[in-house]
Amino acid sequence: MGMTQPATGTAPGKVILFGEHAVVYGRPAIAVPLPQLQARVTVKPAESGRGMTLVAQDLDRVVPLHQAREDDPLAAMVRLTLAHLDAAVPDATLTIQSTIPIASGLGSGTAVSTAIVRALAAYLGRELAPQTVSRLVFQVEKLHHGTPSGVDNTVVAYGAPVFFVKGKSPEMFAVGTELHLIIGDSGTASSTRLAVADVRRGWERAPDQYERIFDGIATIVVAARSLIEAGGSMARLGTLMNENHALLVELGVSSTELERLVSAARNASALGAKLSGAGRGGNMVALVKPGHSGHVAEALLGVGAARVVQAVLLPSPKERGS
Ligand code: PMV
Repeated sequence: MGMTQPATGTAPGKVILFGEHAVVYGRPAIAVPLPQLQARVTVKPAESGRGMTLVAQDLDRVVPLHQAREDDPLAAMVRLTLAHLDAAVPDATLTIQSTIPIASGLGSGTAVSTAIVRALAAYLGRELAPQTVSRLVFQVEKLHHGTPSGVDNTVVAYGAPVFFVKGKSPEMFAVGTELHLIIGDSGTASSTRLAVADVRRGWERAPDQYERIFDGIATIVVAARSLIEAGGSMARLGTLMNENHALLVELGVSSTELERLVSAARNASALGAKLSGAGRGGNMVALVKPGHSGHVAEALLGVGAARVVQAVLLPSPKERGS
């Protein structure tokens, strides 16, 4: 048998634009990929009989697969993928690199998992459909978060803007106009598991009040999708972000740092701003007018953002003939 060729798998980061938390309760959410942030996994052949070694370069971790704990998410992703492909553990080194900040709601864990699945499948000469990749990654998301909605693995596996409802086929939708986004990192880690659990407790205590908030968020998400698809008023889209943020504040998932960043972005001419992802820490996202990105980014850094990422969502290419 010939030597297996090295293989690479990549996956983008992501940002949730609308609908986080409510999405856990069956309401829709909108998320978009961030291709400028990337996880990259390479699989290379190793000496025969060595089994598999996982190298997490940024974390300075080198772990032989057979020594990895049952609940190690990297090892779990490898094992699940091999089981799905009905493949034996290859003699190979799997190296993980990522430029996505961890524990900040930008999908770092999800992207690493996705890149692992893709790299391993490619190494074994197989190709997996996005929905299969998404489903495999979802299994590992459950180890991280307990009860994930599935929005993160979906947007990362499909690599396209998605309108997501838990348990339904994801709807990819077209972007009608450029969206200029600024993402600001509060510098505080965000625990998705804890934030989701706190919302759950609140919902158990005051179900009617929480259901009303979730319904309010759902209405915003649906309106936002129409606006994005139609390339409608960006000022209106910004207002929808502000309204979504206000409801997330009511859910209790904002923080002093996030509030500071959201206010700074709005004061610096952003059309709208909201926390993004689980909250408490992690990131916020602002919608800005073209040409205002630098100004808003500076304002965020000025009030203590640990990091700022600029992203432009380009309009979807028109179908040929239309
Ligand atoms: O992983 P994060 O921080 O982007 O947050 C996930 C979004 C939540 O709606 C809070 C949880 C979920 O599973 O959808």
